[in-house]
Amino acid sequence: MSTTPAEIFDDDLDLPDPLALRRYTALVGLDHIKTRLLKEAEVILKPSLLEDWSTAMHGAVLPAVRLMAHRPPLIIFSGDVGTGKTTLAETFADAIAREHHITVRVKRLSLRTRGSGIVGEMTRLIGTAFDTIIAEARANRGRRPLILVIDEADALAQSREASQMHHEDRAGVNALIRGISQIAAEELAVLVIMCTNRGDALDPAIRRRAAAEFDFSRPDDSQRGAVLARIFDGVTLSEGEIATLVRLTGPNGRGYGFTYSDLTDRLVASTCLAAYPDQPVTAQMIISQVKANPPTPPFTSRH
Ligand SMILES: Nc1ncnc2c1ncn2[C@@H]1O[C@H](COP(=O)(O)OP(=O)(O)OP(=O)(O)O)[C@@H](O)[C@H]1O
Ligand SMILES: [Mg+2]
Repeated sequence: MSTTPAEIFDDDLDLPDPLALRRYTALVGLDHIKTRLLKEAEVILKPSLLEDWSTAMHGAVLPAVRLMAHRPPLIIFSGDVGTGKTTLAETFADAIAREHHITVRVKRLSLRTRGSGIVGEMTRLIGTAFDTIIAEARANRGRRPLILVIDEADALAQSREASQMHHEDRAGVNALIRGISQIAAEELAVLVIMCTNRGDALDPAIRRRAAAEFDFSRPDDSQRGAVLARIFDGVTLSEGEIATLVRLTGPNGRGYGFTYSDLTDRLVASTCLAAYPDQPVTAQMIISQVKANPPTPPFTSRH
């Protein structure tokens, strides 16, 4: 039985979108990635911008610009769990859509949940995903750029570790490379973002082709401080109490501190539920929830 596009993609996200903007704005500590990513994405999705720049600066479209136009439209996000990879991939183009008054459509494919185990499944999934994307991009000829988010892309690498899966894995990797090359050859307005917890384990053939790779990590002291201040906005916390929370959510003898999502999802929920229904949130309550909910171990130490 073949997989239909409706089954392999989550719902499309059309940008600009107010919720996407809120999710994007709430990301802390990613400004260096955001700046570079926006430039990369802008010139991949709208190559004419680079030509205009070259003409303005050099009086001609430089050969270098032509070379850039044929780069594989692939960007890799790699790094620790709960550090904003998926959120950034799904929302960053909101800024591009607003600035250029266009709609950017985000199509999302998750490999870990959809392609597990069945031989041939992953190759078929990737093949169908690219067929759909390429047909859609050809039909709208750059009027509505597309972003394909391939989330949990470690599935493409992980299977390589089991030698009996080697052949299937290569086929999946090849299907991906074929799809990306086709998009580059036709100069379609499509950008592929792969998110993975294991950049190192990603197939070298894919890594080598990426236009850029961005590394995501857990929040440092000042980033945890910024997140804590935001999530507990409205709760009276002294500077000393914030400093204590920053210390307790840091490595604190464990070797790793809290991830962003440990703070924004788990700590927020457990603290509010501890206070609900008849007490206010206090610093002491947050501190005891921090102690009761240790941070998620880094991906590599989960095995
Ligand atoms: N840099 C950040 N700043 C603020 N909040 C963040 C950041 N990164 C993640 N979060 C919070 O954590 C939640 C999960 O983030 P997200 O799913 O994007 O992480 P991820 O890197 O894709 O994780 P995983 O590797 O587990 O898939 C987000 O909804 C957001 O609330
Ligand atoms: Mg993710």
